[in-house]
Amino acid sequence: MRIKSNNLAIDYSDNGSGIPLLLIHGYPLRRTLWEPQITGLADVARVLAPDLRGHGGSDPGPGPYSISVLADDCRGFLDTLGITRPVVFGGLSMGGYVVFEFYRKYPQRVAGLILAATRAGPDSSEAKANRDKAAMTAREKGVGTIVETMLPRMFSSKSSQTQPELMTRVRKMMASTSLAAVGGDLAAMRDRADSTAMLAQIDKPTLILHGADDQLIPPAEAEATAAAIPNARLQILPDAGHLLNLEQPEAFNEAVRGIALSV
Ligand code: MLT
Repeated sequence: MRIKSNNLAIDYSDNGSGIPLLLIHGYPLRRTLWEPQITGLADVARVLAPDLRGHGGSDPGPGPYSISVLADDCRGFLDTLGITRPVVFGGLSMGGYVVFEFYRKYPQRVAGLILAATRAGPDSSEAKANRDKAAMTAREKGVGTIVETMLPRMFSSKSSQTQPELMTRVRKMMASTSLAAVGGDLAAMRDRADSTAMLAQIDKPTLILHGADDQLIPPAEAEATAAAIPNARLQILPDAGHLLNLEQPEAFNEAVRGIALSV
């Protein structure tokens, strides 16, 4: 499906009925990341998954990108669909940064939070420098080089061995990301706010999901986030890496089902 929101054409999926469950993909991905959730959770929620600007089929927009701009795109998306009731807002990795920002700006629009494979803290100075290097690589060598560097780090070693088809699927998702979005997201992530101090003020049910074998963001980050949010539930999924919702869809969906039915 496609709508015009915040002056951009946005591609999205809209499946099922019930409480709105807005799912935001990570970098450099697209909404098809959420396929197991779009089909597997439609009986308990209205599962909404947009392609962020410049990803998949959505317009890149003019830039500059920031996590705040992406959060406002989510707000515009909900407004355009006429969804004013609070939603369960879930994000994976960079999508989690968007969830934190959206909650900071529009807490009254959030009924519950799902934080998957993400972290609350900001980039270290080394991580910031790596973002700039990656942006230069993308400009000079193309998005494909970024894809091939990141792809093997997205999965647990078990998934890499037993689910090789996931690699093919995810490579395709990543390759559909525009150069504008790769550069824009890298700058947005580099400059994102530190959400650590906000954690103690989150007063909505929060589900934190993380892969035990996440190579990009260590599970200790999820443990620290869960310890700081008063009403949080943490689940570390075994044999899962950074893309835990694809690697362990049944366990992931069961946990999400719990929060969707409880808010
Ligand atoms: C993501 O998976 O969205 C990004 O890798 C997160 C990050 O680089 O901080």
